[in-house]
Amino acid sequence: MSMRTSYCGLVTEQQLGQTVKLCGWVNRRRDHGGVIFIDLRDREGLVQVVCDPDRAEMFKAAEGLRNEFCVQITGLVRSRPAGTENANLTSGKIEVLCHELQVLNPSVTPPFQLDDENLSETTRLTHRVLDLRRPQMQYNLRLRYKVAMEVRKYLDAQGFIDIETPMLTKSTPEGARDYLVPSRVNAGMFFALPQSPQLFKQLLMVAGFDRYYQITKCFRDEDLRADRQPEFTQIDCETSFLSEQEIRDLFENMVRHVFKEAIGVELDAKVPVMEYAEAMRRFGSDKPDLRVKLEFTELTDVMADVDFKVFSVPATTEGGRVVALRVPGGAEISRSEIDAYTDFVKIYGAKGLAWIKVNEVAKGRDGLQSPIVKNLHDAAIASILERTGAQDGDIIFFGADKAKVVNDGIGALRLKIGHSEFGKAHGLFEAGWRPLWVVDFPMFEYDEEDARWVACHHPFTSPKDEHIDYLETDPGKCLAKAYDMVLNGWEIGGGSVRIFQEEVQSKVFRALKLGEEEARAKFGFLLDALQYGAPPHGGIAFGLDRVITMMAGADSIRDVIAFPKTQRAQDLLTQAPSAVDERQLRDLHIRLRQTEAPKA
Ligand code: AMO
Ligand code: AMP
Repeated sequence: MSMRTSYCGLVTEQQLGQTVKLCGWVNRRRDHGGVIFIDLRDREGLVQVVCDPDRAEMFKAAEGLRNEFCVQITGLVRSRPAGTENANLTSGKIEVLCHELQVLNPSVTPPFQLDDENLSETTRLTHRVLDLRRPQMQYNLRLRYKVAMEVRKYLDAQGFIDIETPMLTKSTPEGARDYLVPSRVNAGMFFALPQSPQLFKQLLMVAGFDRYYQITKCFRDEDLRADRQPEFTQIDCETSFLSEQEIRDLFENMVRHVFKEAIGVELDAKVPVMEYAEAMRRFGSDKPDLRVKLEFTELTDVMADVDFKVFSVPATTEGGRVVALRVPGGAEISRSEIDAYTDFVKIYGAKGLAWIKVNEVAKGRDGLQSPIVKNLHDAAIASILERTGAQDGDIIFFGADKAKVVNDGIGALRLKIGHSEFGKAHGLFEAGWRPLWVVDFPMFEYDEEDARWVACHHPFTSPKDEHIDYLETDPGKCLAKAYDMVLNGWEIGGGSVRIFQEEVQSKVFRALKLGEEEARAKFGFLLDALQYGAPPHGGIAFGLDRVITMMAGADSIRDVIAFPKTQRAQDLLTQAPSAVDERQLRDLHIRLRQTEAPKA
């Protein structure tokens, strides 16, 4: 005899008049003067079970039920009385009249009500098992599975094969700190957990596999945010003998396939492509959220000779930038809201937030209300109004500083206003799915602290063919065959065409001031492999957690990972990381510094 004949959540009018056997958890028990209703829950949803007192033994058992008891019932499927149907449930037209009830396992009182909407994350992560019983979490993890399956189907059909790569390996330079694993048998030596399978997938291309993918864990010890976890999952892909365009087309189609099959969303036929430089110019970000209908206006060139030092100094300083952000309808924004926005941009290092309210464009200077117009000459004011396309009733905000401070601060302000109630009411936000390719990233960015160039993507990314000479003459000008896929303001994937010739790879290492010996010690195996007829190749990795988070409409990637870590990189469920005993450390040839030894 099987334990059940159906999932609770899937019993429908199809089974009217039949006897069913169900197993699940008591979501709620309601006593209605002589009749007991049980909402029984399993992964497919709820069903209403009715317990009448005329079956005394069963009724007594029902009286003892509490939330989260695991029970089995046998009963008759019947229609719910007219007017008591529940349109939100698949099983909402029926109920099950209980004949037999068996408690398979009682539950102690749960620390919270499962349908409580206001649980703290600490509570949820500490009691993750119960948290995962909640329908939203059940949905998120099943969606995750569905997406992974659709990825596999698509890539399989395109001839990709899944090949595993090591977890105990050597450091790969993706720009974060490594998680290290001490080796017992090699005293004083360490493995690094992979930040990505980058080098291995390139070696697989040299080995002739042609098309590789893997849905795999990556480990990065970096500062955590809502969209970052120390261990996260990549859909990691690499192909040989395809151009940048062909690679992007192939993976854009994968994303389209997955959105359609997993959540029924038809993305636009073609994902738009934007150069990195344009994205920075118009949005101050390399991952612009195109749902927000606000753009920067460049003013650096017109502010060089104004009296207002706040504008003229950055406008005449190398690396400085002055921009405007016109907000249609923004003249109604109050002083206290402007003050709040000013504090907000200060988080990004801005020193202030100048503004002009446009009451009447036709009146020129006299039609403006602002603490700064007195310091701007007529030509500057005319340029501001003309370039921003100012209309009566607008507010124009200004950022003036080092380009990074302006981009970060005004970029964040753009999003904040766009996503606000004000933004939605004024048509500054258009809901939907807005994917975007950002291409032509710089090869390098300058690290002020270390006074040297570092790779923007990773050091195996190919420079654009016509920029190879810049590697030696002007690394800052060198653009890469690198691309990110951005969706609604999140970077969901990134990749590049790789260097496949050893001499180009050596030039890049030299531009990074990586000595020949150091390069050999770190990546000798790659340099060697490149000498055996390495094919042209390239690829991409998507952040699976981020894709699911967006699809599920969740706030944090922690909501789509079964057992995630907190912002402090701790697992509250298992209490990892934890201290280990002296003996284990001795085996690993490790002695803790006195000051850092955790309290037992
Ligand atoms: P990259 O470092 O851009 O590229 O990573 C690829 C994608 O992985 C996701 N991601 C993360 N998701 C959650 N938590 C994190 N800490 C985290 N870090 C990255 C992002 C990102 O777009 N080897 C290259 C890929 C390649 O060149 O093919 C790489 O790892 O969505
Ligand atoms: P101040 O003359 O310093 O009182 O500033 C006048 C206006 O300029 C105020 O609205 C400030 O918030 C704003 N402001 C100051 N510094 C900056 C800056 N770096 N970028 C944009 N606005 C600024």
